Amino acid sequence: TYVVTENCIRCKYMDCVEVCPVDCFYAGENFLVINPEECIDCGVCEPECPAEAIFPDSDDRSADWLEINTELSKSWPNMTRKGTSPVDADEWNGKEDKKAMLSK
Ligand code: SF4
Ligand code: F3S
Repeated sequence: TYVVTENCIRCKYMDCVEVCPVDCFYAGENFLVINPEECIDCGVCEPECPAEAIFPDSDDRSADWLEINTELSKSWPNMTRKGTSPVDADEWNGKEDKKAMLSK
């Protein structure tokens, strides 16, 4: 599976949801997740993310995030169409230590 990781927080560009063939993205207030049970591992979303926040779960950068994607995708609503990103999304792109800002 692929998972969404830390740099999505407060960026939430949502380009990813438009390309997923199985519509397995779920949206929170300032972050998105993938449902690992629904992801078919196609990899199409990875290069679409302007924040480079999507990785295969085998990648070191996905540590901790598989569990977070699994848990949050159970309660967040499905999202298949790109909405409006935060106005300050670009300012948060690449910032470190955003994990504590994740709104659940
Ligand atoms: Fe969807 Fe493919 Fe990305 Fe999985 S890897 S979330 S199936 S676009
Ligand atoms: Fe997040 Fe990237 Fe999608 S910033 S919402 S994973 S396009």
